[in-house]
Amino acid sequence: MEFLNPPLFLFLCFLLSSSYPLCSATPHLSVSNEAAIDYQGFLNWAREDELFEWIKRVRRHIHMNPELAFNEYKTSKFIREELDEMGIEYSWPYAKTGIVATIGSGGRPILALRADMDALPIQELVDWEYKSRLDGKMHACGHDAHVTMVLGAAKLLQKAKDQLKGTVKLVFQPAEEGGAGAYHMIQEGAIENIEAIFGLHVDNQLRTGAIASKPGPLLAASGRFVAIIQGQGGHAVKPHKAIDPVLAASHAILSLQQLVSRETDPVDSSVVSVTFISAAHGHAIIPDKVTFGGTLRSMTSEGLSNLARRIKEVIEAQSVVHRCSASIDFMEKIGRPYPETLNDDGMYMHVKRVGESLLGEHNVHLSPPVMGAEDFGFYSQIIPSAMFWLGIRNVSVGSYHSLHSPHFFLDENALPIGAALHAAVAVAYLESQASRFH
Ligand SMILES: *[C@@H]1O[C@H](CO)[C@@H](O)[C@H](O)[C@H]1NC(C)=O
Repeated sequence: MEFLNPPLFLFLCFLLSSSYPLCSATPHLSVSNEAAIDYQGFLNWAREDELFEWIKRVRRHIHMNPELAFNEYKTSKFIREELDEMGIEYSWPYAKTGIVATIGSGGRPILALRADMDALPIQELVDWEYKSRLDGKMHACGHDAHVTMVLGAAKLLQKAKDQLKGTVKLVFQPAEEGGAGAYHMIQEGAIENIEAIFGLHVDNQLRTGAIASKPGPLLAASGRFVAIIQGQGGHAVKPHKAIDPVLAASHAILSLQQLVSRETDPVDSSVVSVTFISAAHGHAIIPDKVTFGGTLRSMTSEGLSNLARRIKEVIEAQSVVHRCSASIDFMEKIGRPYPETLNDDGMYMHVKRVGESLLGEHNVHLSPPVMGAEDFGFYSQIIPSAMFWLGIRNVSVGSYHSLHSPHFFLDENALPIGAALHAAVAVAYLESQASRFH
């Protein structure tokens, strides 16, 4: 057992002597300077050489060994070994590779910190010492950093475990990228009894040292579809003997453009994009069928299901006009639709205040909503949630490429910031809610 570092020790002393006002329950209260918790202790400690070196090692190990959705077996094992090393208990597996670890009293209040573990089927094109060792797989969405920051928070919180005024759960989930890992975690009971959840996502648009988010809907509800239009093939010079699915598909795709432009309230954001189309190749042959598909987005789940209903109607009706038949698959089983990520006002304010205290008010920004999607949305439908962007942009380091780019690169200076923010959000949450249970 190690001794407490001086900064953390000071932090704890301060914590015990301070009375942090309720955040989530009473969002109008503000933290006075006198009452502010010394979050800086966490950040200073996370930036100290020993811890920072460990943090970088953890992240680089995960970065070099990326695993795709629901195959994060080695990553999961690595995380469990780190938890074992820290003496933190956990249960697993959830949804094949998921882990839920527990720090603190075991009782209420209970807050969860979430990290996603999966990588992307992308070939890394960044040449650096810790490049992905696996061809065609890459942590190009920063999930390696997400795992590392929650493990970093674990290290900070574990030192303070006896003083925690409740329980912090660490939720390591599989398959954020399209596999709805969060949904499967919930189905298997991973967030039972958890009262609120917090998650960070790295952001290449935001400078290192800054964070951003917004109350209410942050990310879109998202679905995908594949349509098959069936006609009857034939020779292209005898079109009257065939039933042309290419023409039907063309009309259907054009008609889909009207769902957003003519049927959606202009102040509501939504997207319908057809992103692929395929049929048999041949200049003089009318194919039997055409397959096409794409994505649909809306800021509400209701908007998403309306779009889905109309996509089906439009494709089917346009097929009938052209004597074809259509089948449309919304991929509910593999690639299940994601609900919108909805930040709870109280949780948002809580993280914002902690962030301002930790990083300075000038480093906490209001984010616009984004039409991207996150399976964090599944948690946000059930319990008060907040997701924040964590800045990783530093042009001199080269960390400015977009997420999912083969050139994506992370500024590792963001890692201790994320770890400290996770820990501070958790400690302050327990502190603010503890009075409800004692
Ligand atoms: C960006 O990186 C450089 C080189 O490491 C460093 O000197 C600078 O302070 C960093 N800027 C930010 C905003 O972190």
